[in-house]
Amino acid sequence: MKKLGALVPILLVLIVPAAIWGSYAMAADAQQMQQAYEKQAGQAANTQRGQVFFTKTHGGNWSCATCHTAKPTVTGKHTITGRPIDPLAPSSNKERFTNERQTEKWFRRNCKDVLQRECTAIEKADVIAFLRTF
Ligand code: HEC
Repeated sequence: MKKLGALVPILLVLIVPAAIWGSYAMAADAQQMQQAYEKQAGQAANTQRGQVFFTKTHGGNWSCATCHTAKPTVTGKHTITGRPIDPLAPSSNKERFTNERQTEKWFRRNCKDVLQRECTAIEKADVIAFLRTF
């Protein structure tokens, strides 16, 4: 037990900088996030495919554009709550795609709502590529 006690400060010295570094590494921009998803998918994103994906329904009633509109530079509106949603295009909203955890959380939630499944890495890359054209 004594040995374990001595380990704690050593671990803190190792873990704290790693955690700080990790949070910096997670802060990204839209281009970096697109590249990370492309790498995961093993293929390049396609803006056209992203546009089609974003604007069509996928077997259910909703598309991504239902809440975000087909013009991602404008403020969207949640189709159920009516609450405004800030533009998704990074050119109109500097906060977009700068926080991996946030982006992943909303991709997961929204994809399940629209596709009844999670989005694949290439679908996410395509969507970001499309949103970056604005
Ligand atoms: C039912 C309404 C609704 C639908 C449909 C919807 N979204 Fe969203 N989306 C939201 C809300 C609400 C937020 C969170 C509020 C915010 O970030 O401004 C959000 C946030 C996001 C974000 C967060 C981006 C970031 O990093 O800040 C992404 C990406 C996203 N949506 C993509 C999609 C995609 C792709 C689809 C289609 C598969 C979709 N959304 C469909 C409501 C919706």
